[in-house]
Amino acid sequence: MPATMILGSQWGDEGKGKITDYFAGKADVTVRFQGGTNAGHTIVVKDEKFKFHLLPSGVLHPEKKSIIGNGVVVDPKVLIDEIESLLKKGITPNLLISERANVIMPYHKMMDSAEEKLRGKKIGTTKRGIGPCYSDKISRYGIRMIDLTDEKALKEKLRTIIPIKQKIFQAFGEDTVLSNDEILKEYLEYGKKLKKYVADTSLIIARAFDDKKNVLLEGAQGTHLDIDHGTYPFTTSSSTTAGGGCTGSGISPLKIKEIIGVVKAYTTRVGEGPLPTELKDETGKHIRDRGGEYGTTTGRPRRCGWLDMVVVNYACRINGFTSLAVTKMDVLSGIKKLKICKAYHYGDRIINDFPANPGILEKCVPVCEEFNGWEEKNWKEVVKKGYNALPDNMKKYLDFISSSSKVPVGIVSLGPGREETIELK
Ligand code: IMP
Repeated sequence: MPATMILGSQWGDEGKGKITDYFAGKADVTVRFQGGTNAGHTIVVKDEKFKFHLLPSGVLHPEKKSIIGNGVVVDPKVLIDEIESLLKKGITPNLLISERANVIMPYHKMMDSAEEKLRGKKIGTTKRGIGPCYSDKISRYGIRMIDLTDEKALKEKLRTIIPIKQKIFQAFGEDTVLSNDEILKEYLEYGKKLKKYVADTSLIIARAFDDKKNVLLEGAQGTHLDIDHGTYPFTTSSSTTAGGGCTGSGISPLKIKEIIGVVKAYTTRVGEGPLPTELKDETGKHIRDRGGEYGTTTGRPRRCGWLDMVVVNYACRINGFTSLAVTKMDVLSGIKKLKICKAYHYGDRIINDFPANPGILEKCVPVCEEFNGWEEKNWKEVVKKGYNALPDNMKKYLDFISSSSKVPVGIVSLGPGREETIELK
């Protein structure tokens, strides 16, 4: 059976959690393949809100398997807290964690803050240790999940790593003192609690394929936060795009049949970096409040702007989306005139392709198409009647998205709940 991938097409927070949860009902195995506690998904089931940073969104379907793949960086304390909070609600997670996933250590979080302090132009990271953990993985200083279950291996690795980290902190002028013994004790304890979940997850996914099971790959963050293809350096440190789905889970690209791009009906971004369609006016504020656009992880207000198809079309090219899921269409209700950016003016040039240079992007002025808006409605009732019951102006807005991207819209989301979703067959 082939796999389906769900990816963000903008700067994260597109509503992937809800779309993944929707598809997880049809999948047998859900795999998260990158990122760490920098992500935050909010999922609403029967009016109950669940907020996760590490657990895959599929975990709310306990009859199905949820996997944290090798491309994720795991903060074991946060993971244990999330597992325990689910257990308290009577949900036993059907979870496995890759033995190859790297672990976020205390010095990664300290380094994240220290580096941000020293940087001239801040990235605005979530300070969860993501960048330093991925740096250690690439430098081959990483601690992996398997090490937490092997005292001898962990002891030996820490004996090498801690003195190096200590010297780096001193060079940074930080008075941090790292205790080898305390870190060893704390992380072995985490290892004991998590041992039953740690496994060779790529083998388990391969067996699921052999057994003709449906596999769903769940991206965190979005295309424009990808370490290679995003708005570097204002990105995260992992591969958030389709290629990352394969390396971060240990499956072949030939297994992927569908790649669903999640497009929020407008644009948001947290942290620093250029955002050409940003609305610094009352409309931007209205969208932020109506859309609840405050970070799930840090609580920071998200910067809001009109939908930018230069951004989305670039994501379509990098990922090869087979269909789009357009989310939060309800949030735009009541705005009389809507705009979608279709190109940029850069000096006297028109740019259609997303530029790599943030210096150019900063100076880009959006070229927009204007649309008439639609009134607020009881969207749950509209959804029951299907796509044809959507306001004509909303259909025109959706048509523009699919004609500009040349990718069909397969899902329209009109609210946070599972029952506020229209699937276009
Ligand atoms: P880091 O991932 O904590 O290193 O942060 C790097 C950049 O990615 C910052 O601008 C963050 O705000 C952004 N970022 C990281 N995770 C998310 C996410 O889940 N949604 C939106 N932005 C994110």
